[in-house]
Amino acid sequence: MKIDIVSVFPEYFEVLNLSLMGKAQSKGLLEITAHNLRDWTHDVHHSVDDTPVGGGAGMVMKPEVWAECLDELLDLPAPNEDDSPNDVAAEDNDSSVAAPVLIFPNPSAPLFTQRDATELSHAEHLLFGCGRYEGYDSRIPDYYRAQGIDVREYSIGDYVLNGGEVAVSVMLEAITRLMPGFMGNPDSIVEESYTGEGALLEHRQYTKPAVWRGISVPEVLLSGDHGKVDRFRRDEALTRTNEIRPDLIEALDCKALDKADRKTLMALGWEVSAAHPRRLS
Ligand code: ADE
Repeated sequence: MKIDIVSVFPEYFEVLNLSLMGKAQSKGLLEITAHNLRDWTHDVHHSVDDTPVGGGAGMVMKPEVWAECLDELLDLPAPNEDDSPNDVAAEDNDSSVAAPVLIFPNPSAPLFTQRDATELSHAEHLLFGCGRYEGYDSRIPDYYRAQGIDVREYSIGDYVLNGGEVAVSVMLEAITRLMPGFMGNPDSIVEESYTGEGALLEHRQYTKPAVWRGISVPEVLLSGDHGKVDRFRRDEALTRTNEIRPDLIEALDCKALDKADRKTLMALGWEVSAAHPRRLS
């Protein structure tokens, strides 16, 4: 997978050379390049932002600088400035080149989920644009969508960061670890929270010793009875999800629940005879 990241702090992405992401680069699974947006400026101050049209606090990232950078990285011809938007719309792109996905982190966008990570783990080329300050001129994503590029805007959570760099690192880690060959043990992905249709929070984990500072691991985990261990873990997943993320219980498909799941959910106050569980209050 080819990954380009554009930022005014490209050094930030040196962390991607560490750990599994670094290994994946050495193996040739990932090719990550962080670009400095200021390399596409022409003024002495290398300015990338300007005041918001209509007034307001802060600065907004300028479309001209971003466009020069993105045209080059997406291998698109720069349009004549006099062209109307219709004149520059989607030209034939070389179909032998993998279609890139252009991604802008944005706190005001739809939430990035495991489903998005799974979909994007199959892409061949991802291009991330990191906004700073009050964000980027909204015509940038609009323009590239009109060129036929798959443009996504995602928030990583309901809080505001200083810029998109952290959000890009989060998304990249979630995406790349799902690529075949990335993880040493691919089974560890299958069992995780948020994976698959019946997404539940994961059961709690323990390692040895069986008693630590007077606290024992649950007895059943030492029993060697795999059926009982699986049931205990599944019930714990249902119970924790009920407490912490009841919205995930509401999204479960009742047809996919086994008899023991139903019993546990009913004991937790859910009705399970419709398409999805319904809380009895
Ligand atoms: N930029 C600033 N805050 C962000 C957030 N929560 N998600 C994505 N990008 C951001």
